[in-house]
Amino acid sequence: MSIKTATLNGVATIEIARPEKKNAITQAMYQAMAEALLAATADSAVRAVLITGQPGIFTSGNDIEDFMKRAPGSLDSPAFGFMQALMDCSKPVIAAVTGPAIGIGTTLLLHCDFVYVSDEARLAMPFVGLGLVPEFASSLIVPALMGSARAAEKLLLGDPFSAADAVEAGIANAVLPAGEVVAHARRVAERFNALPPGAVRETKKLMRRGRAEAMHQAIAAEARVFAERLRSPEAQEAFSAFFQKRKPDFSKY
Ligand code: COA
Repeated sequence: MSIKTATLNGVATIEIARPEKKNAITQAMYQAMAEALLAATADSAVRAVLITGQPGIFTSGNDIEDFMKRAPGSLDSPAFGFMQALMDCSKPVIAAVTGPAIGIGTTLLLHCDFVYVSDEARLAMPFVGLGLVPEFASSLIVPALMGSARAAEKLLLGDPFSAADAVEAGIANAVLPAGEVVAHARRVAERFNALPPGAVRETKKLMRRGRAEAMHQAIAAEARVFAERLRSPEAQEAFSAFFQKRKPDFSKY
């Protein structure tokens, strides 16, 4: 299992731990993360959830081999189960971004309550370059946060952006030295031990209420196109090129 979980001092930690594959997330890992989030939500001793990676890498995104072999095609896939559990989590979720956060690694941050990013991290949503489209309401949230022109750089060109850019765009709270990001995020998470959990839960719910319907519709629309795109010749060429360590050739499409 490449997900480590632990609960300490009111904080449930979910650690992505597959450094040999740059923390690429497999279907089994999504499943484990979903279960950990549901358990944290149900455990009254847990006041906040911390999601983190390994030193130097948060996650390289969905495992591309899984995309090729077991393309998620429906709203009941493990990736959807995880993202649904994240979006439904009634407790504060804090992300400590320890290194590159790619694809779903950036998308999931849009659904956390607090995001702290290592000064060495870069974020990217390179879906188009993989023949894919944005997912889990990022096509809605990213333009809303940074405006359509800057969103186009991130979503249409797949340009990576720095931790400082993420703070400026409102995706992240603060940039921290690489060695301090997890400890800082944990300190923020532990502050919820001193706050009334009912008021925290209701405030989080109210903060999300206004955009809930638009998010639901965006996620469903993206999911339909994403599933089609996964099976497209463009995506198959991009995935093959990644494993063959060459540039993809989209000239014939
Ligand atoms: N899925 C599956 N395997 C992945 C992976 C992914 N998303 N990301 C990295 N790996 C694997 C590589 O294939 C390589 O495996 P190998 O040692 O068996 O050859 C190993 O992890 C190390 O990756 P490598 O690319 O050599 O490391 P790097 O330090 O040069 O680059 C990244 C790190 C994260 C920048 C780079 O791996 C990358 O761009 N990954 C893909 C990101 C992506 O497009 N994700 C999907 C978004 S939808």
